[in-house]
Amino acid sequence: MFGFVNKKSSLSYDMFDLHRSAEEAKRLNKCGNIYHRGQDLAWNGKEVLDMLVAEYGKPRLSEPHRKALQKIFAIILWGELAAWRISAQLADRIEPLEAKMAATSQVHDEARHFYVMYDYLSLLGDVPKSIDWAPRQLLDLVLGSEELAHKLLGMQLMVETLALTIFQSIRLAAPEPILAELMKYFEKDEARHVGLGMQYLPLLVKDMNKLQRARMFAFQFKILSYGMLETKIIEKELESLGIDARDVMERGRAKQMTVLKETFHALGIDAEKGPVMKMFGFAGELMFPAIETRGDKAAQRRAAWNALRGEAPDIDPDAIEQHSRHDIVTAKGKTASRDREVRAKAV
Ligand SMILES: [Fe+2]
Ligand SMILES: [Fe+2]
Repeated sequence: MFGFVNKKSSLSYDMFDLHRSAEEAKRLNKCGNIYHRGQDLAWNGKEVLDMLVAEYGKPRLSEPHRKALQKIFAIILWGELAAWRISAQLADRIEPLEAKMAATSQVHDEARHFYVMYDYLSLLGDVPKSIDWAPRQLLDLVLGSEELAHKLLGMQLMVETLALTIFQSIRLAAPEPILAELMKYFEKDEARHVGLGMQYLPLLVKDMNKLQRARMFAFQFKILSYGMLETKIIEKELESLGIDARDVMERGRAKQMTVLKETFHALGIDAEKGPVMKMFGFAGELMFPAIETRGDKAAQRRAAWNALRGEAPDIDPDAIEQHSRHDIVTAKGKTASRDREVRAKAV
């Protein structure tokens, strides 16, 4: 009759009782800083878009360029909605307070990214109603995963770095000035989201057995496969905007290798040199050959085998950090330009 009284609460009342080592405390403190930086650096999407339209006028593009941007940014638009939902799942499921706070601030950021991208694409013309098969599979895989570590690896380390790569490539090619400026705002936020994965994921992986780790890296392999297919699908559109898909692939690989190294090195796992990244290098040489090997199948196969044998490219320690240094106007009306120094003091 009073069975409902014994029902276990879903509130984690013991969240403050969890024992923390010094290393865990340091990592979680950094997660807490991500939340506070997210508040300091929050920007008003409506105001920023209005400000940029006032500065540059409504976006005007040739029809082929407009179509190319619509196809690429269909993935970004719906990807932002997926990121919003995934970060809300993380905010709900992560237990330690500071990491939960960091995920919560990401929810706030992704909501802003989604509505700003919707407003921008509306200015550009019709808003894309769907996306291609490969990016849809990728996002559904991360959304549907029940494993917290898989979700974090998929979202924070793989999807976020892929997004950063596309944003950076569009900003540098600058096919349209408002979009190029907006990318700085997006990049600054996404770099923080990668930070949550780098700080919190090791705390989940440290107690995993070999089989659990193998399953996690198999999940990473799936994500990367869909990511490469996605890049292939938009290759022509990138090219029409003056962006070489090979450069996108190399940039993305450098970012992913950097975050994998920084995330897993403390656990003694060389994920950046592991079989998944080697396969990524192998497939990359065949799918997006370098200028020197284009049109030469034998040279492409040789490059692919070299990538598989472990001749990994150098890691760029600034691959993620550079995105946090953009100048942006925050909702408080300040220009945040020295984020790196602020971060150095805070962390
Ligand atoms: Fe985002
Ligand atoms: Fe993000």
